[in-house]
Amino acid sequence: MPSPSEVANVRARRSRATPRRSPIVVAIDGPASSGKSSVGAAAAGRLGLRFLDTGLIYRALTALALREGVSVGNPGGLVPLVDRITLADDGTGRLTRVMLDGVDATDEARGPGVDASVSAVARLAAVRTALLDRQRILSSEGGIVVAGRDIGTVVLPDADLKLFLDASVDERADRRISERGLDPDSDEAGAVRDQLRARDEQDRMRAVSPLRPADDARIIETDGNTFAQTVDLVTAAIEAASEVRAEASAKPPAPAAATSVPTPTRKAEPPPTRKAASVAEPVRTSHTGLLEVAMRLDNDQTTLVRMVGLVSRIVARMFANIDVKGLDRVPRTGPVILAINHASNADPFVTGAWITTALHRRRIHWLGKQELFDWPIFGWLSANGGVHPVARGTADIEAYRLATRILERGYVLLIFPEGTRSPNGALQQAKDGMATLAMRTGATVVPVGVNDSDLVWPKGRRIPLPIPRRTIRVRVGEPFMVADVVPADAERRVAKRIATTAIMGRIAALLEPRQRGFYADAVPGEDEGTDGGQGSSSV
Ligand code: CDP
Ligand code: CDP
Repeated sequence: MPSPSEVANVRARRSRATPRRSPIVVAIDGPASSGKSSVGAAAAGRLGLRFLDTGLIYRALTALALREGVSVGNPGGLVPLVDRITLADDGTGRLTRVMLDGVDATDEARGPGVDASVSAVARLAAVRTALLDRQRILSSEGGIVVAGRDIGTVVLPDADLKLFLDASVDERADRRISERGLDPDSDEAGAVRDQLRARDEQDRMRAVSPLRPADDARIIETDGNTFAQTVDLVTAAIEAASEVRAEASAKPPAPAAATSVPTPTRKAEPPPTRKAASVAEPVRTSHTGLLEVAMRLDNDQTTLVRMVGLVSRIVARMFANIDVKGLDRVPRTGPVILAINHASNADPFVTGAWITTALHRRRIHWLGKQELFDWPIFGWLSANGGVHPVARGTADIEAYRLATRILERGYVLLIFPEGTRSPNGALQQAKDGMATLAMRTGATVVPVGVNDSDLVWPKGRRIPLPIPRRTIRVRVGEPFMVADVVPADAERRVAKRIATTAIMGRIAALLEPRQRGFYADAVPGEDEGTDGGQGSSSV
């Protein structure tokens, strides 16, 4: 929680509000030394907005841990230190100073000792959770620019304006070197360069709230810009967004007859059908501030789940022959990731419907976009059929946490590792999340290849093509554990890459060469090939 003096500072500042201040919320993210804090603070100062530098909180926590000899990898030791950190106002509403036990420690927090360790602290989920509420409370009244790594994606996914400042790593390192008054040819300058690269890498690759632009962020490349030019750019962007906000709120209310039609106000308002997602309604908890998910994680197949499976099988056969092999390879117990290629809207139906028959009363759990639940009948079926909604903006962290819970309980999770449907039927590069999940939870991975679904129901078509009659071939591969294919001493990033390639290569082995795409060279051996598999269930 913010300390009373922090709150008092914020309130005092707010009561001195200039008429130009609007309740706008601006998120500025970006890699190290991209200018978030200096540019953000300068633009906020010009516009009479408050400013919050969230990096300073992570830095202060790291400084305190180093002082107290608490290991930077030990969440149990770090979390209790959080309450000893206070942010302080620089007199103009900008929270640019930090106190430890009431004593200013800003210089210590910005020092090189902290540079080297801060990313290790920031990658810990428990630490991020402990700090999240605080960042949100400090921002809650608006009229603020907030700088960090995950502000637009996780902390304030509803921000009115999201900016992502970037610059080449060399330029950013040069800025930090000159800021610290170092000789560019000195060993110290070399260390700054190496350390900045390493920190960027760690911030980008971490599993929880990684550094990345939000989907709706505006990316500002600052290479070659002077500081003043970047401040001008950011100030102009905030002013433009404030005007849009002001215009939107100045619009006269809709006439009475039209009020039954919901008018979107802010893009982050929950969709009207959110209630339908009763299976996993995310709720805010007062202490962590994270979107805790109160889930009814049922594991048994209900009549509805079986009915949906049956109807899907009947409907699928109306459009194509369905030939499924290897169903008896699906484990009957323990956590399972069904990793499936995705080339068509037909894939969830043909895989879900047939694999459900092999699960012996266990149901499949899916993660679905929140929007899915807006569809009239489909939304209701999804909500009651094992699909868990994942809200936009927080999608990555929320999806990851949900998926972890499902697997930790020993359930079955279906994942399309490519994220989206392939445009041409061939495998696309997969996201890393699945590999991390498999490594962390020790789930058994079952590769599944769906052949030719893209010919029956191509991307971009509203309905499938029953003519010419084709055969969709679903091949279930040999289950395996990623721990068996990743060398025990592999560095985390390397391990993730090896695991992703191992999973995708095994899916590729179950596909015709035309569909192997990005993983054509990763096929482990033709013996697992496209026709391997007992337990045939051909139609
Ligand atoms: O000033 P610089 O860009 O070097 O770093 P900072 O913004 O002070 O942040 C220091 C470190 O805190 C980053 O390298 C991240 O590891 C972490 N951080 C974070 O994880 N999330 C944030 N919202 C802000 C900072
Ligand atoms: O907060 P972050 O780590 O992203 O960067 P910063 O501490 O605000 O900026 C790092 C240094 O780069 C500061 O000395 C800025 O004045 C400088 N800078 C610059 O010279 N030109 C820019 N366009 C942005 C920042």
